[in-house]
Amino acid sequence: MPEAIDLLSEDFKRDPYPTLSRMVERGPVVETAFPFLGTVYMVTTHAAVNALLKDSKSFIRDPRSLGKSPIPWFGRWMPRCLRIMASGMIIRDNPDHRRLRMLVDQAFSRSSMEQLQPRVEQLTDELLDEIEQKADTGKPVDLMEDLCRPLPIAVISELLGLPREDRDMFASWADRFAIHPSFRGVISLVPTLWRMESYVRKQIQLCRESPRPGLLSALVEVEAEGLQLTEDEAVGMTLLLLFAGHATTTNLIGDLVLELLDRPEQKQLLLEDWSRADGAVEEALRYCASVLSSKPMYAVRDLEFQGTELKRGDRVMALLSAANLDPSVFPDPLRFDILRTPNPHVAFGTGSHVCLGLKLARLETRVAISRLFSRYPALELAVPRDQIRWAALKGLRGPRQLPVRLHEETVPA
Ligand code: HEM
Repeated sequence: MPEAIDLLSEDFKRDPYPTLSRMVERGPVVETAFPFLGTVYMVTTHAAVNALLKDSKSFIRDPRSLGKSPIPWFGRWMPRCLRIMASGMIIRDNPDHRRLRMLVDQAFSRSSMEQLQPRVEQLTDELLDEIEQKADTGKPVDLMEDLCRPLPIAVISELLGLPREDRDMFASWADRFAIHPSFRGVISLVPTLWRMESYVRKQIQLCRESPRPGLLSALVEVEAEGLQLTEDEAVGMTLLLLFAGHATTTNLIGDLVLELLDRPEQKQLLLEDWSRADGAVEEALRYCASVLSSKPMYAVRDLEFQGTELKRGDRVMALLSAANLDPSVFPDPLRFDILRTPNPHVAFGTGSHVCLGLKLARLETRVAISRLFSRYPALELAVPRDQIRWAALKGLRGPRQLPVRLHEETVPA
């Protein structure tokens, strides 16, 4: 009997641990029934997730090579803007995947991140200054709105070279993806997807007329050579980087801040030694389930995987958030411990599609929490934790709002 799991509900997001722990226990492969997607085989243990993501001979990303549509029910016909989204490298196989990834790898390398660090610190400090001004005028501070969302959007738009004034629009596009996963839900996204596509095409045109600093101009240059990148692929790549580059990290920063505020002893460990910030980021990646799973993969033939018989074309996903709670790898997995070591989590996936932006995500999150808590060591939630609402973005988990007080409340004498 397939397990019906609802990874989108507010209840799941508030407390995903019973469901995820059950999935590990029932693993390594659990047949699940998903609204819209139908049957999905969820791979839930640490060893099996590693095996799946590294096995590009038995599992592929692009179902079109098996005669299937990436979006169920569309068959061969798909609106053009959906086809563009489906051209991003995250759902491409070799040799296309390698060709696309090579074009952007350097921009996210260790040396590029080292160069970027001062700018990330500056952007964080500017946002914290604005937060301070807001609090001084008695306005409530919501860290999601005032720090966790704007920081990754600012960083990825600067990396791409997109205009500053468009940033609010990217955030509103991302919000539109909090939809019900149904045929109607996907169709309702079409106008937004169309707007996103035409926006990026216009930016590409502007870069052609007048090159500017940033990755988009670099992609346009490659596209102009006509060998390595088509315009559709440049659009798909830009949209992938824009969304993968901000919604994920927004959630991770929000999740980590919430866990630290909820656990004064863990926050204290950080305040005593800032070199523990890296460990805090790794533990948030493991524990917080900010990105729940990999993208779907498809069995290339009838095969047996980890004791389960799969048919050609069966859809399989790595439930990374469950694998990160696997007790055979992580002792006492439901304990949030910023000193946990070793911490071989799979929050960024593994294999050839391992997260391109993992160094950037780590950098932004480390800078955000270090700057935030060193400036406001007494930061506290302004509402009880059970009043926090959770965002409905598909596949991601993070608070919708994070109302805080910057300083301890002083009781009048
Ligand atoms: C908390 C932050 C982040 C998490 C947890 C995360 C997680 C992931 C995961 C799990 C994958 C692999 C998915 C799969 O195998 O289907 C992935 C891929 C990817 N991520 Fe991230 N990500 C984060 C931040 C970022 C950032 C900041 C960028 C910046 C550009 C980014 C860009 C990408 C791209 C382009 C891919 C596709 C790579 C490929 O197909 O080769 N991610 N990410």
